Amino acid sequence: MRKARVLLDRDFSIGHTDHRLFGAFVEHLGRCVYGGIFEPGHPAADEKGFRKDVLALVKELGPTIIRYPGGNFVSGYNWEDGVGPLESRPSRLDLAWFSTERNNFGTNEFIDWCKAAEVEPMLAVNLGTRGGDAARKLIEYCNHAGGTTWSDLRRAHGWEKPHNIKLWCLGNEMDAPWQMEYKSAEAYGVAAREAAKMMRWVDPNVELAACGSSARNMPTFGHWEDTVLDHTFDHVDYISLHTYLNNYRHDTASFLASPDLMDRFIDEVVALADAAAAKRRSSKRMMLSFDEWNVWYRTRRPRADRVPEGWPAAPAILEEIYTMEDALAFGGACISLLNHADRVKVACLAQLVNVIAPIMTETGGGAWRQTIFFPFAHMSSLGRGRVLRTLVESETYDSCYYDPRGDQELTFPIPDVPYLKIAAVAGESGSLSLFMLNRDLKQEIAVTMEARSFGPLALAQAFELRHDDLQTTNTGNEPERVAPQPLEHVTIVGRRLQATLKPASWNVVRLLPN
Ligand code: AHR
Repeated sequence: MRKARVLLDRDFSIGHTDHRLFGAFVEHLGRCVYGGIFEPGHPAADEKGFRKDVLALVKELGPTIIRYPGGNFVSGYNWEDGVGPLESRPSRLDLAWFSTERNNFGTNEFIDWCKAAEVEPMLAVNLGTRGGDAARKLIEYCNHAGGTTWSDLRRAHGWEKPHNIKLWCLGNEMDAPWQMEYKSAEAYGVAAREAAKMMRWVDPNVELAACGSSARNMPTFGHWEDTVLDHTFDHVDYISLHTYLNNYRHDTASFLASPDLMDRFIDEVVALADAAAAKRRSSKRMMLSFDEWNVWYRTRRPRADRVPEGWPAAPAILEEIYTMEDALAFGGACISLLNHADRVKVACLAQLVNVIAPIMTETGGGAWRQTIFFPFAHMSSLGRGRVLRTLVESETYDSCYYDPRGDQELTFPIPDVPYLKIAAVAGESGSLSLFMLNRDLKQEIAVTMEARSFGPLALAQAFELRHDDLQTTNTGNEPERVAPQPLEHVTIVGRRLQATLKPASWNVVRLLPN
């Protein structure tokens, strides 16, 4: 058995979790919208066509903000197509996913769905095939009270009150060749700045996120952020990051180490943002919007290999079936986000339903939780508060992560990976939540934790997520093969905890003042 020692102090914190750290993402992609959150005629659909079984699972998952409508989709989207009477909405070819978009669901339906799901909306504007002009009209349509063409159009469409959408993304992955009309950093920086200016002139209360690199492995990473921030620093509040973890090589130890590269990516983007501030002698601190993150590789294909025939509407694409092992890497990513709560203020799990998602549905049938559902739900329900610094003594292993880019495979050494990855969050009620990943595939870890400056603590909740077969998945027929179980070996004496974590396990412990 391995041993690990953790020391924390109630007074030493990293930062507060923003409520938007627990976000997710709905794109017009595959069956995320149609057959996912929206399926008129389904036995569980309400009068608006929103699936109530899915809404119930969304509430249990606990996302706080949802990004919409893309993703790659947004870079070819005409928002006007998705508003107004259904019978006059056009069908369009969606070049992002080689599908037909019938526009039966659009901005207003999304806002209604957000109300039903009790989440905040976060909209992306199209800076690919369109630009600042379409963006300013959209924001006028959504957020202006009335008395102008666009705001009165919203009212005529049946939404009398403005939507007051606060957070907006200035395009999506604009550095990426797979994006419709991707741009050089210089061209995007100028386009984003001009869109931002106009959007704020329409509504000074909005918060704006500029596109950072679509992945750490992009050849332009670093230079892209520098140039984009040169143009947008004074006009935006966030710079974005995206990461999809993979296990192409079927190397589980390396896969479980890979969330540590998210830590590195965040630290690097913080350094780039603070360098932009330093150049301006500015005290402004640019915050980070990690607005796409997840595990994704089995259904990920180069664009040339994924042309579906016949331009189907809502095809079943990117329906990644998550394993136990994926839930562990995913849990590691949750810990990485929590441990950067000082700078990562927005994060969106990509995506929400069916498409690389924690929730799966059958069109016309049931809905269930994938393995990755649980770490997210734990993080959202128990991870709010002040994230504490943890001093961790754990044995380590050396690892190497492999990330494909086009025909190449990039290699990222990750030395000194601690077997125990942990985040600790102090809640308002004097609670202390611990999120712990045991990355050792064979051995248990005996963890000893001392919570300095806390009074005596008592155990409130303790779960583990594990399975003897790391390739196990949940299915419509067997939806609970992977589900949290009580964590048995936990003892608390005063403010000291001892817990035994099984090999390859995700563990959550919540303590309350005794
Ligand atoms: O989430 C799936 C896709 O991944 C998104 O559309 C895009 O932004 C990213 O490349």
